[in-house]
Amino acid sequence: MKIITSITEMQTIAQNLKREGNTIAFVPTMGFLHEGHASLLREGRNRGNILILSLFVNPIQFGQNEDLDRYPRDAERDCRTAAECGVDFIFMPEATEMYPQGFQTSINVRELSKPLCGTARPGHFDGVATVVAKLFNIVMPDLAFFGRKDYQQLALIRRMVADLSIPVSVIGMPIIRESDGLAMSSRNAYLSPVERKSALALSRAIHDIRSLYVSGERSIETLRRKALTIILQEPLLQIDYLEFCNEHSLQPLTEATDDTLFALAVKAGTTRLIDNTVLGEKV
Ligand code: PAJ
Repeated sequence: MKIITSITEMQTIAQNLKREGNTIAFVPTMGFLHEGHASLLREGRNRGNILILSLFVNPIQFGQNEDLDRYPRDAERDCRTAAECGVDFIFMPEATEMYPQGFQTSINVRELSKPLCGTARPGHFDGVATVVAKLFNIVMPDLAFFGRKDYQQLALIRRMVADLSIPVSVIGMPIIRESDGLAMSSRNAYLSPVERKSALALSRAIHDIRSLYVSGERSIETLRRKALTIILQEPLLQIDYLEFCNEHSLQPLTEATDDTLFALAVKAGTTRLIDNTVLGEKV
């Protein structure tokens, strides 16, 4: 496994690998790897013959008052996890390598970046789209793996890849959860023990809404009321949004169907947690 920090070096390696006919599988991350990231790496290992991981805490996707400075980092442990997952190259640039003085380009996926997390995090998805496009130009992957945990991010990257005719197949992967249901996230490291316990209300809401849907409930008002009740039972949680929308357009709906995305964002203390499910998907 080789660690690369220079953009031109990574590009030269990728170009040579492609010329030799390799299939490059790519997993972009911000590090502090957990089993969710590892599931993407394993799938990448199976489907490509070269596996590249990026570790880069992307400053332009964090808002002014967000957690850029305290975002958890552990490069050594990440390298061990990467090696265990069969990674061939880790691309790990400095922020100044990615954004040298004078950098001024931004990608805006107009509609998909607005609802859900886009409302509370203005500019966030422009930062995500821009860095992912840049990483695609550096790593030149044939296959790129993203988790459905960040559902809006995945939808937006699919849109960007189609709109800009980027020659990569985007593969969406299932949400990996802790044994008690909490969706894995690097940010879970911020939670105090009591917050960690309250945070289980998110996956409980996902579970109960799915059960109600399966038992025939189609009224979004009823489903929303049920989800609200579950979250509001936890005094430590503050709701950012709780939405039912079309899984492709992310536009709100009044009646639930198999294509309905139920997505929620909740704050436990200062930690922002997200979770989601598509009502028709098998989990
Ligand atoms: P990060 O939060 O590190 O996540 C990297 C990838 O891991 C994303 O595709 C995310 O959806 C996936 N992931 C995280 N938790 C997961 C879980 N519990 N189950 C399955 N997949 C999970 O997302 C980012 O980084 C950044 O925005 C990035 C795309 C790297 C751009 O900076």
